[in-house]
Amino acid sequence: MKKLIFIFIFFSLNIALVSCQDANATIQLQEDPRVEKIDDIDAKVNDLLSKMTLEEKIGQMNQYNGFWDLTGPVPSNGDAAKKYDHLKKGLVGSMLNVRGVKDVKAVQKIAVEETRLGIPLIIGFDVVHGYKTVSPIPLAEAASWDLEAIKLSAQVAAEEAAAAGINWTFAPMVDISRDARWGRIMEGAGEDPYLGSRIAVARVEGFQGDDLSAANTIAACAKHFAGYGFSEAGRDYNTVDVGTSTLNNIIFPPFKASVEAGARTFMNSFNELNGLPATGNAYLQRDVLKKQWDFDGFVVSDWGSINEMIAHRQAKNRNQAAELAVLAGSDMDMESYAYVNELVNLVKSGKVKESLIDDAVKRILKVKFELGLFDDPYKYCNEETEKQVTGSRRINDAVLDMAKKSIVLLKNDNNVLPLKKKGQKIAVIGALANDKTSPLGSWRIGADDNTAVSLLEGLKAYTGNTITYAKGADVVTGETLFPKELTINATDKSGFPKAIATAKNADVVVMVLGEHGLHTGEGRSRTDLNLTGVQQELLEEVYKANKNIVLVLNNGRPLTINWADEHVPAIVEAWHLGTQSGNAIAQVLYGDYNPSGKLPMTFPKNVGQVPIYYNHKSTGRPNLPSPGEVFWSHYTDVSNEPLYPFGYGLSYTTFAYTNLKVEKIADHQVKVSFDLKNTGKVKGKEVAQLYLRDEFASITRPVRELKGFELVELNPNETKNITLMLTDKELGFYDNDGKFVVEPGDFTVFVGGDSTASLTSQFTLK
Ligand code: BGC
Repeated sequence: MKKLIFIFIFFSLNIALVSCQDANATIQLQEDPRVEKIDDIDAKVNDLLSKMTLEEKIGQMNQYNGFWDLTGPVPSNGDAAKKYDHLKKGLVGSMLNVRGVKDVKAVQKIAVEETRLGIPLIIGFDVVHGYKTVSPIPLAEAASWDLEAIKLSAQVAAEEAAAAGINWTFAPMVDISRDARWGRIMEGAGEDPYLGSRIAVARVEGFQGDDLSAANTIAACAKHFAGYGFSEAGRDYNTVDVGTSTLNNIIFPPFKASVEAGARTFMNSFNELNGLPATGNAYLQRDVLKKQWDFDGFVVSDWGSINEMIAHRQAKNRNQAAELAVLAGSDMDMESYAYVNELVNLVKSGKVKESLIDDAVKRILKVKFELGLFDDPYKYCNEETEKQVTGSRRINDAVLDMAKKSIVLLKNDNNVLPLKKKGQKIAVIGALANDKTSPLGSWRIGADDNTAVSLLEGLKAYTGNTITYAKGADVVTGETLFPKELTINATDKSGFPKAIATAKNADVVVMVLGEHGLHTGEGRSRTDLNLTGVQQELLEEVYKANKNIVLVLNNGRPLTINWADEHVPAIVEAWHLGTQSGNAIAQVLYGDYNPSGKLPMTFPKNVGQVPIYYNHKSTGRPNLPSPGEVFWSHYTDVSNEPLYPFGYGLSYTTFAYTNLKVEKIADHQVKVSFDLKNTGKVKGKEVAQLYLRDEFASITRPVRELKGFELVELNPNETKNITLMLTDKELGFYDNDGKFVVEPGDFTVFVGGDSTASLTSQFTLK
């Protein structure tokens, strides 16, 4: 602690000197407290850097996975002794997966009180959709299109994680993906760069708040830079090979938006991109991120990704991997042990300039200062706060609200939904209906198993009906222990007869089917998008007994549910909705909440259509020339259309779009306005969507692209006039030289409730 006090006194003197030397700077400092803070931090960083040995600098670039267990290093962790030694020598700048005030305080104490310079650790954790109290998976949250709710969800996640000692989340994941086979699509915002960018901003703002140094905000990390969502064939960690236009117009925008929203850190990615592993890719990290976008935070590698450059066959050994990674702009090494072991020699041998190390360390220290860790390294370590905040009412209310908003009504023939509240016999069928772990989804490592409200519990909270439950079939067999592979093909049908009997005797059957939470996420790609195991058979057997089925889907990716779409009268997309899952779904099924979610990804008819996405190009042969023709862009077995388009979702009411007007109010400012009317019988919310087509351009442009939306709540018969603006940002695109251009020409506007919107108008840009 003494050292820390010394550092503070030194800094204060130093700042006083700087102020005296530069009168203008002093005036500026007094005028703008924010500038003062920034200048102040830069001065502090430079000063601290000047005192650091090369080894200590490189230590700041080294991040270790948790090896600490309340009283000391975990005995079962083989590296614990070495890591402990490094920690005491000031050779560790950050740790991940240490959580809970007691543990964080213990490791922080060593960093602050036992090392020469007392530099605090930054403590990272994957707070991806909540910490202990879990919000819906990010893909589900994206289905809400409700930026305020998403921001709040990130805010309460930050609050709960910060109360447990964490000050940095490895989120948001802003990877755009068009491939439902990829297990990690559950972790992002879906297929669209516009929606993805807006959501990225909401999440960054939610995690970081207005004041990063407050004890209830944490640093965000936009990941995985870049291209990870485009892995070939949707197989995780696989090769990515994309052209300039896709990179600039589809993959980059949410990352750029994250920088603009102030995300303090970035994580690079496991994949190679166009021949270079992202971790060793200077174009991505130095040219684009740090130079073009002026990002002044730091880049952490993904887990072991520096070492993986050897397996990629870019680097011959760890030494070369460390060299390539640092040259490429990866500032912090997560668990490769490459920087801590190799960088000193690389600098001493002249292969790596010390100025590159200095740049990386400055970035890391800056974020630590911004978090307020130098003012009080234990600011996130208050046991009282941890007790009060963890699982608080406020956090549970926010995740319940988010869960309701994330639900998408896919089908509701004959108004099967909402369910009547009294006098009904309801059969609830499916193992997922009674599962208190699966709704937590993937990437919820801070939460305990069995802590979600199951749908069965949620439905039973409504007492007017008689509820009978039958499992029917398991969705997983064996242990659901993270991170082991789950058995996906449960085959036991012995529960079918009971499920069929239960259904026969019911007025309505609620079937909860899909995939287990741990069937999705990292390393969990699939080549088959059907309901897993024998669930499809179960559905068809139950249907024979009772056709009045409400199918509730639990899943982390689009599934191919054609049979259900053809036969089952009502389908509710309920994803993996987190801790409050069962309550949220029950409120929607009973009509206490009118669903307003819209799909953030296209649902294919079969896996062969993947990648399928609404903002595709036209091709040279887009249309059937005449009946029976073969030579046009299509399949012989299935149409080009998806099962459900991007942006699609129903409500218990209906909406009408009329009166579209497009007005040019300045050179590059187009005002689009239209009327939206609630034409049904109940109050409801609609996501009004605006799509744009640039008819002809210097490079081919998508058939349409989302360029605006508004979430509107209307009473029955109420009409609202909605205005959305198109400016350069929406009208332009990146050409093949990576230059943003707005080209003159004709544009078509489409307005409506999903990406097939048919109300159109045109305008011309001069
Ligand atoms: C994932 C990252 C994650 C990191 C740390 C990696 O396997 O790709 O997204 O942040 O682990 O847990």
